[in-house]
Amino acid sequence: MIEIRTIGPHEADEFLRVLCEVFELDFARARGVFQREPFFDLNRKWALFLNGRMASVLTTVPVTFGDGPSIGIAGVATQRAWRGQGLAGQLIEEVMRVAADQGEGRALLFAKDEQLYSKHGFRTLDRVITQQLPKGLSLNDNKLLTIDEVKHHYDRWAESDLHTLRRDEQRWHFWSWNAKSVFSIPGGYVCVELGRVRELLPAYQTLPVSDPLEFYGLTSMAKELRIPMANPTPDTYLMGRNFDYIPRMFLSDQF
Ligand SMILES: CC(C)(COP(=O)(O)OP(=O)(O)OC[C@H]1O[C@@H](n2cnc3c(N)ncnc32)[C@H](O)[C@@H]1OP(=O)(O)O)[C@@H](O)C(=O)NCCC(=O)NCCS
Repeated sequence: MIEIRTIGPHEADEFLRVLCEVFELDFARARGVFQREPFFDLNRKWALFLNGRMASVLTTVPVTFGDGPSIGIAGVATQRAWRGQGLAGQLIEEVMRVAADQGEGRALLFAKDEQLYSKHGFRTLDRVITQQLPKGLSLNDNKLLTIDEVKHHYDRWAESDLHTLRRDEQRWHFWSWNAKSVFSIPGGYVCVELGRVRELLPAYQTLPVSDPLEFYGLTSMAKELRIPMANPTPDTYLMGRNFDYIPRMFLSDQF
């Protein structure tokens, strides 16, 4: 018998165990951050139970664009023993059905492999890439921005186009949850997380960097920002269901 629903508080550990087993994560370490993550919400942790056993899981996050809400889907996983029986597919379909009832009828996800999702109405919208950036001066000489200064630049950029991801308080909380450094550049900022530029506004300029840095983001964003492209390394696919445009978003908002 198959049951698909969101989990209860007593099932959070079991859910995390499935994720840790499938993605080979250390349970004890993951447990420390799992429920503290700013988007943690039991109503968005979905599981498919096969004869009472949690076989397949996924998580959704709210993602809002200028033209309305959508969901991001992450952590799709089926326990090894039960793969290839259509369980992840059924879970995705049910989650999409409920999301549509709740006014979140479109979805985005980042995938290493398109197969499962293209069978369930998702199409590839864009490709995530990493691109080495040219060297410049030292970023350390540049002013560090406060979150309010970043918000000012980001919100102005986001409001310029309906297809841009909007950040509410919860999303800004998520944004500041991961350690990042934000440096001032003329007219905007550059946001660096673990050696990767995940955010850059208003457009590429000879970046004041001394250490080797790479841009990590959507191909469409790299083009819009006029990042010098030479042999970018392809990463995951951005796929969407019921999306008729390529969303403008940075990978600091990755789910
Ligand atoms: C991907 C995964 C969730 C599919 O679960 P499932 O319950 O077997 O899915 P379904 O039975 O509904 O569909 C199976 C189809 O998914 C596709 N698929 C297999 N592995 C996949 C993968 N890693 N990513 C995307 N699609 C995949 C294949 O088309 C497969 O069809 P096939 O059995 O005819 O080859 C499962 O293989 C898994 O947990 N993999 C490890 C974690 C992972 O890679 N998650 C995706 C992160 S983007």
